[in-house]
Amino acid sequence: MIGLDLSRGMLERARRQTSPAIGAQWVQASVERIPFGSQTFDRIVSGLVLDHVRDLPAFFLGIATALRPGGRAIVTAVHPDMQRRTGPTVRFTAAGREYHTDGTIHEKADILTAIQQAGLSIDQFQEPPVTEPLVARREAWRDRLGCPALLLLALTRAADHHYDH
Ligand SMILES: C[S@@+](CC[C@H](N)C(=O)[O-])C[C@H]1O[C@@H](n2cnc3c(N)ncnc32)[C@H](O)[C@@H]1O
Repeated sequence: MIGLDLSRGMLERARRQTSPAIGAQWVQASVERIPFGSQTFDRIVSGLVLDHVRDLPAFFLGIATALRPGGRAIVTAVHPDMQRRTGPTVRFTAAGREYHTDGTIHEKADILTAIQQAGLSIDQFQEPPVTEPLVARREAWRDRLGCPALLLLALTRAADHHYDH
C-alpha cells in the first residue's frame, strides 16, 4: 500500500493513523504527476483531493495510467454545488493550528469528460446530499440541508484501453 500526498504533514498524520503491520510506504508527490510506472496498482483511492487539483485531465489520466487493466479507482470530492455555497478554499484546525488549502471548482460535465477521455468507465456516480441526521450532528450545516455534499465515483480502467505513455 502506498499513500501519496503533496503535504509532508498530512503524510505524517496518515502514517500515525495506520498500523505499521500494513507496511505502507508514504510518498510526497503530486497526484498530477504520479511518480510510479504505468499499470502499477490494482486499486486507487483518492479522498477529497480532486477539488484541490487544477488539471482535471492530468488527474484522471494519471490514475488511469497507474491502474492495471481492469483495475478500479474510488474518487471522492466535495460537490461543486457545495463548493459554491462554502467557497472552494478549505479551512481546518489540526493540532491546534489553523490551516487553509486552496480549492478549485470543477463542474460535473468537465469531470465526466476528463474521466471518459482518460479511458475510465463509471461504475457508480453518487451525489449524497446533507441530510437531517448530518444536521443533527452539526447544526451549522442546517442551511445546507438537501445540498449535494460530495461526489463519489467508482471507476474502472478498461482491460483493453491503450495509453501512449
Ligand atoms: C481535504 S484533504 C484530504 C486528505 C485525505 N486524502 C483524506 O481523505 O482524509 C486534501 C488533501 O489533498 C492534498 N493535495 C492537494 N493537492 C494535491 C496534489 N496536487 N497532489 C497530491 N495531494 C494533494 C492536500 O495536501 C491534502 O492533504
